[in-house]
Amino acid sequence: MIQDIVLYPDKRLETPCSAVEEFNTEDLHRLIDDMFETMYANGGLGLAAPQIGVMKRVTVIDISSGKDPSKKIILINPTITDMKGTQRGEEGCLCFPGFMEQVTRSMTVSVAATNSAGATYQMQGEGILARALQHEIDHLNGILFIRRMSSLKRELIRHKIRKMLRTGDWKAGGRSA
Ligand code: NI
Repeated sequence: MIQDIVLYPDKRLETPCSAVEEFNTEDLHRLIDDMFETMYANGGLGLAAPQIGVMKRVTVIDISSGKDPSKKIILINPTITDMKGTQRGEEGCLCFPGFMEQVTRSMTVSVAATNSAGATYQMQGEGILARALQHEIDHLNGILFIRRMSSLKRELIRHKIRKMLRTGDWKAGGRSA
């Protein structure tokens, strides 16, 4: 089922999530299905559980936007174990509809995670995938992409959102990750 996206400045988005301890449960499978559905419905490349108000360390990524099923990634309790190089590029977030900003990230990352059956695995990502992995794992730690920008950019975005909140123009439904 498509779930509502939690928008900034909801406090849950800056709260670290707790680890998943039970695997292969109906609840976990439903959560993952809902996350893919919600991500595709909003045109995102990744979605973290707190973005739909579930404070668990679960994230899904699909850099093909639903075009290639082999690109679907499910990460439970993920941690970044290594990062190399840097890349600078445009990044968005479904919790900040309409905002795209330059963000510096590592070029490649190694990640350790668990799948929905509870088996641990390692993966590597480069370029866009590395960017998505860093963005989504940040979400699970309560870190939003505005934290990865200069304080000037961050304040500008906060100011614009405060203004839209006052005028009632701050709503979900933009594109991005
Ligand atoms: Ni995001």
